[in-house]
Amino acid sequence: MGFGTDCIHAGQSSEPTTGSVAVPVFQTSTYEQIGIGQHRGYEYARTQNPTREAFERSVAALEGASEGIAFASGLAAIGAITQLLSSGDHVVCTDNVYGGTYRVFDQLYRRLGITFSFVDTSDPQNIESAWTDATKMLFVESPTNPVLSITDLSVAAEIAHSHGAFLAVDNTFMSPFLQRPLGLGADVVVHSTTKYINGHSDMVGGIVVTSDESIHERLRFLQNAAGAVPGPWDCWLALRGIKTLHIRMREHEKNARVVVAMLSDHRSVQKLYYPGLADHPGHEIAERQQDGFGAMVSFDVGSLDRAQKVVQAVKIFTLAESLGGVESLISHPAAMTHAAVPKADRDAMGVTDGLVRLSVGIEDAEDLVDDVRNALEVIS
Ligand SMILES: Cc1ncc(COP(=O)(O)O)c(C=O)c1O
Repeated sequence: MGFGTDCIHAGQSSEPTTGSVAVPVFQTSTYEQIGIGQHRGYEYARTQNPTREAFERSVAALEGASEGIAFASGLAAIGAITQLLSSGDHVVCTDNVYGGTYRVFDQLYRRLGITFSFVDTSDPQNIESAWTDATKMLFVESPTNPVLSITDLSVAAEIAHSHGAFLAVDNTFMSPFLQRPLGLGADVVVHSTTKYINGHSDMVGGIVVTSDESIHERLRFLQNAAGAVPGPWDCWLALRGIKTLHIRMREHEKNARVVVAMLSDHRSVQKLYYPGLADHPGHEIAERQQDGFGAMVSFDVGSLDRAQKVVQAVKIFTLAESLGGVESLISHPAAMTHAAVPKADRDAMGVTDGLVRLSVGIEDAEDLVDDVRNALEVIS
C-alpha cells in the first residue's frame, strides 16, 4: 500500500459492533468481565484500550514497525526507552537533542545511576570516541532541534550494533512521511506525537515503535507497570491527525522551501539552518536518508535584542513552544525549548541568543513569506 493509503487505513478497521467507520473513543476506565479470570481481552484501561491500540497500529505501520507503544507525552516515551537500561549503564546521545530530553537524562536518569555522553553524532568518530564498555544505548535525534544537524542513521546503527547496543532515534522532526529510521537500521523510533503526527496543536502524546520483540515486550510491560499512558481522546485526535499526515507534510515542506528562499537572500539573516540547502553540512546524508527536508527552519539574527524584535513583529507566526501543527509557530530556543542546557553548551552548538526557530505551517506561502520578511524589516 502507498503511504497515503496507510495513513487513512492502516490499523483502523471498522468497529465490529456497529460498523462505525471512525475508530470510536473508548472512554472507559474498566471493562465488564464475564467471570473470574474470564474477559474479552480487555481488563483495565491502563493495560488495554481499543482506541489506543488503533493509534499504535497506525503509527507502527507508517514506520514499518511491528509494534507501537503509546505514552502520555514524547518525554514519557523517551523515559520508557531509558527505563530499558539499568543503573551503571551508559548512553551516547546527540548533543543538540531537544532540551527536555537533555534535562530528563541529565537531571533524572543521571541521578538514578545512568551516565550520558552528549556528543555531535553527525561525526561518527565522536560516537566511537564516547563509547565505553558500559554503553547500552545510542540515542540520536536527526535532524536535531533546533540547528537541524544530520546524523547518518545507517552508520549510527552499525556502530551501536557492533558493540551489542541498540539505536534509538527521535524522528519527531521528520514524521514517518519523511524518514523511517527502522529501515536504516534503528531498533527503536520515538515520536512526540504532539507534533506532526497529530498536527493540529491540540493534544500532547508520545509513541515508541519497534520490530524487536524483546524490546517490545519490555516497553509494553513499562507502559502498564509505570503507567504513563495517553487518554483515549488524545489517541483519537492523533489518529484523526494521521489521516492527513501525507497531505500536511507535503504542504509544510513546500511552504518551508519558499520561506527558506527568502531568508537565504535576506541581509539581516546571519546564519540559516535548513538541511535542504546545498551548503548545509548534512545535506547529502539528508538527501539519502530522508524523503524531504521538512519544515523546521532556524536562523540567527545576531543578538537577543534583534531576535526579540523579530519574534514580536510577526503577525501570522505565533510565538509559542512546540512545532509541527498546521499553524506556523516561531520560537526562541535559547530561552524556551533549550533553557535547561547550560549557556556555554548552547553557544557551542549554535543555539545562540540570536537564534530564532520557525515551524512553518500550511497557511498560504506568500502570507508566511511576507510575515517573516516584514518582521525582519524591523531590524534591517
Ligand atoms: C524532538 C522532540 N522530541 C521530544 C519532545 C518531547 O515531546 P513532548 O513535548 O510531547 O513530551 C519534543 C518536544 O518539543 C521534541 O521537539
